Amino acid sequence: MLALAGALLLGQVLSQAVIPPNSKSSSTRLWSTSSGQYWNNSYLIGNGRLGAAVPGNIKSELVYINEDSFWSGQFIDRVNPDARSYMPEIQQLVRDGRVVEATNLADLAYTGTPLSARHYDTLATLEITLNHSAVMTNGSYERYLDVDDASAGVFYDINGTAYSREYIASNPAGVIAVRIASNTTGAVSLQARVRRAPDGSLNRFEDYSRRVGNDTMVMGGNDASSPGIPFSAGIRVVAKGGSVYAIGDTVIVDHADEAWLYLQSWTTYRKEDPEAAVLADLAAIEKPYPDIRAEHVADYQAYAHRVDLSFGNSTAAQRNMTTPQRVAAANSTFDPEFTSLFFQFGRYLLIASSRNGTLAANLQG
Ligand SMILES: *[C@@H]1O[C@H](CO)[C@@H](O)[C@H](O)[C@H]1NC(C)=O
Ligand SMILES: *[C@@H]1O[C@H](CO)[C@@H](O)[C@H](O)[C@H]1NC(C)=O
Ligand SMILES: *[C@@H]1O[C@H](CO)[C@@H](O)[C@H](O)[C@H]1NC(C)=O
Ligand SMILES: *[C@@H]1O[C@H](CO)[C@@H](O)[C@H](O)[C@H]1NC(C)=O
Ligand SMILES: *[C@@H]1O[C@H](CO)[C@@H](O)[C@H](O)[C@H]1NC(C)=O
Ligand SMILES: *[C@@H]1O[C@H](CO)[C@@H](O)[C@H](O)[C@H]1NC(C)=O
Ligand SMILES: *[C@@H]1O[C@H](CO)[C@@H](O)[C@H](O)[C@H]1NC(C)=O
Ligand SMILES: *[C@@H]1O[C@H](CO)[C@@H](O)[C@H](O)[C@H]1NC(C)=O
Ligand SMILES: *[C@@H]1O[C@H](CO)[C@@H](O)[C@H](O)[C@H]1NC(C)=O
Ligand SMILES: *[C@@H]1O[C@H](CO)[C@@H](O)[C@H](O)[C@H]1NC(C)=O
Repeated sequence: MLALAGALLLGQVLSQAVIPPNSKSSSTRLWSTSSGQYWNNSYLIGNGRLGAAVPGNIKSELVYINEDSFWSGQFIDRVNPDARSYMPEIQQLVRDGRVVEATNLADLAYTGTPLSARHYDTLATLEITLNHSAVMTNGSYERYLDVDDASAGVFYDINGTAYSREYIASNPAGVIAVRIASNTTGAVSLQARVRRAPDGSLNRFEDYSRRVGNDTMVMGGNDASSPGIPFSAGIRVVAKGGSVYAIGDTVIVDHADEAWLYLQSWTTYRKEDPEAAVLADLAAIEKPYPDIRAEHVADYQAYAHRVDLSFGNSTAAQRNMTTPQRVAAANSTFDPEFTSLFFQFGRYLLIASSRNGTLAANLQG
């Protein structure tokens, strides 16, 4: 086992089977038989600091990336300078029952200066374009979010080849990781890169976007305001079989058996040189994906498994439904396991968007 450990670095691990996820057999999954068209029906993952919304598109995947310190500008001190000195007067007005006057004074002395906080920005879009030439086999598609192990996944079949993708946001590893696999040798071919926004509207705020070596790309710049927050985001791709190379600012996987993609991002809120920090972190990833996944699951479950909530069993017909169907049906008929899932989904979102040392829980809105 020890002798093997050296050889098992990164791409050298054995493939796991690519089998239909059968999410209906799991009470801890949100799932659907169609991809998420919008941000609002994509599946969310997060490690407290980094978050992603995964639509689960087949050929042209666009994963929206958030970083908790990426706001529309630098820190501003909004504390009203007169708040402290007017506090006794406002308190006295309240004690005297002169609430309207207290409110009027508080409007002047207790509101932020400037009034509004900065707004939170989406950081980037991870584009993964799969090189599928044939169309999907009807009825084979499934995507899910499992709130028990904090993983999102996609499965489909194309002309007898099964494909799967798994997405995790690991707190211990500090990165978002994606596993792309198929059950046919050499069937994984794709292109990947990070852009500011899928519609191109924010790409003009990128200052650089380039490949680094043969397996990495990095981009970055500033948000739209002045003075803005410099940021950087990058990906590194590792594959088993086939080849990995880069052209321009795109990393390409050619006829691999399986590929793993790692995404890192930093802003100047935490790193003086975000680009250097992104590249150093990506280069330092040594553990194989299954190890990164196992650590992620253990770390997440240490929080998630603190609470168990059961309302009893759902019926076979209830379990058989996709999540959108269950949402509609639960409107009129009580669905016990779905109610527990709803509760655990809320806890999942909080664990995914807030950890010790991160900013307020704002990932993915
Ligand atoms: C989701 O977003 C789409 C596109 O913006 C919008 O049409 C739709 O109403 C939204 N759905 C919900 C439930 O908010
Ligand atoms: C589907 O697979 C069959 C059998 O392997 C092959 O002959 C055919 O060309 C494939 N179709 C497409 C559209 O790739
Ligand atoms: C999938 O079903 C649609 C209609 O429901 C049909 O037009 C299409 O050809 C089917 N595709 C395949 C690959 O069977
Ligand atoms: C791959 O999975 C598909 C089902 O999606 C199956 O039809 C096919 O036989 C499998 N191929 C191999 C090589 O296992
Ligand atoms: C990149 O790939 C080329 C061609 O396969 C190879 O010659 C070169 O050594 C690689 N460079 C790095 C940094 O891996
Ligand atoms: C991409 O797909 C085309 C067919 O659409 C095929 O000719 C080409 O070999 C594929 N490239 C890779 C790297 O799989
Ligand atoms: C019924 O629900 C209980 C918990 O409420 C669970 O332990 C048990 O496994 C469920 N039974 C089935 C058949 O799923
Ligand atoms: C489960 O759902 C499938 C697809 O909607 C349907 O064909 C099947 O009859 C359902 N089974 C049960 C037990 O409800
Ligand atoms: C649930 O019921 C309410 C009230 O009848 C209705 O307004 C709403 O659209 C329903 N929601 C779903 C998802 O069916
Ligand atoms: C949070 O992080 C701080 C600084 O690393 C540490 O001292 C503290 O023990 C942590 N708290 C928890 C609850 O993990």
